[in-house]
Amino acid sequence: MFSYSENDFYCEQVPLADLAARVGTPAYIYSSETILTNYRAYDQAFGALPHTVCYAVKANSSLAILGLLARTGAGFDIVSGGELFRVLEAGGDPAKVVFSGVGKTPDEVEYALTHGIHTFNCESEAELALIDAKAERLSLKAGFAIRVNPDVDAATHPYISTGLHQHKFGIAIQDAPAVYRRAQRYRNLAAEGVSCHIGSQILDPAPIFEALDKALALAAQLRAEGSPIRHLDLGGGLGVAYYEGESAPAIGPFIEKVQARLCASGLTVMVEPGRSIVGPAGVLLTRVLYRKRNGAKEFVIVDAAMNDLIRPSLYHAHHEIIPVRLSRLPRIKADVVGPVCESGDFLARDREMADAMPGDFLAICTAGAYGFVQSSNYNSRPRAPEVLVEGGSYRIIRKRETFEDLVRGETL
Ligand code: LLP
Repeated sequence: MFSYSENDFYCEQVPLADLAARVGTPAYIYSSETILTNYRAYDQAFGALPHTVCYAVKANSSLAILGLLARTGAGFDIVSGGELFRVLEAGGDPAKVVFSGVGKTPDEVEYALTHGIHTFNCESEAELALIDAKAERLSLKAGFAIRVNPDVDAATHPYISTGLHQHKFGIAIQDAPAVYRRAQRYRNLAAEGVSCHIGSQILDPAPIFEALDKALALAAQLRAEGSPIRHLDLGGGLGVAYYEGESAPAIGPFIEKVQARLCASGLTVMVEPGRSIVGPAGVLLTRVLYRKRNGAKEFVIVDAAMNDLIRPSLYHAHHEIIPVRLSRLPRIKADVVGPVCESGDFLARDREMADAMPGDFLAICTAGAYGFVQSSNYNSRPRAPEVLVEGGSYRIIRKRETFEDLVRGETL
């Protein structure tokens, strides 16, 4: 939870100005309470309906955050062998892991099989053949779901919309029954479920329900044909509010509607939320280095950059930028930019904001999802530390990288 008390901005009971002084900037700060509240909103709204909330590791894969969720009973949605390694390191239960993604390698499939993950969300017939062959060699049976592409428009940014036939994802829903039928010849595969995921940052849940209804009809058809389908995986979760005053659908009522649609189906439901669990739980803390004016344009130059948070540059995403200490100075209109040497390095453009001066700290809000995980060492900038706040205390869950870290593994 983030809020102002008097003039100071807090994460739970810790003032961000104190954190900035102690851990330096830029730094990612997370609220454990917000993460758990959001996870529980999904988990509890399903009520008695059998379900698994598989947190999408890609949104934020820090071990401490995975550990926090694992201890609360979460499952995990992974998209690589590296993500599975992280889940295992964090104490996650492999039996609650689903493996998504269109390009699983043979080594990744083997690694996931040996650790006994729950389900592979398969995206092509060639992938089914590979999993069967690997499972046979290991004398195992692999659970699979076919990720169907329902041809539903998620109405989100084109880079993160996935449910149309023009996208690389899934198997066209009308082809799926035949693929399930052909998969029966694989002796080391077991059809466990039907999965779909139409995109991310979805603020209007109507397309999710459209996809859900299509997937549900498919599951019913497959069961009528004798297939032992046990679960339906809805894919990612809801979008979040990035603008002040923007409202995102609440998790509880959304899941209650999903629950109502599925309660008579006899299916277990799975959902793979990432953004809505960790997005609002994090800020990127930064310090103003300089102010400058070029012609009519005002610039606030900060010590965080596109390598720390690429969402504004990559998707023109909006993140609110607010002062860590409120002042009464008039507001300004400025571009907030970092030290990286390209004009694409901006955190906000033409933004009405506090008149922040060199030395002031700013919080770049709603940065807990797809923030640190998409950061890089571009311009040989060490990656920022991550800090997890729990009530009145905090711990550094990832150290700031050093110059030595930058060259680790390299040879002259
Ligand atoms: N399941 C699958 C199969 C996915 O591809 C994704 C996200 C999720 C679940 C989690 O969706 P969520 O609950 O977070 O909406 N880098 C982009 C977002 C990419 C999302 C990719 N897939 C961004 O910064 O907005």
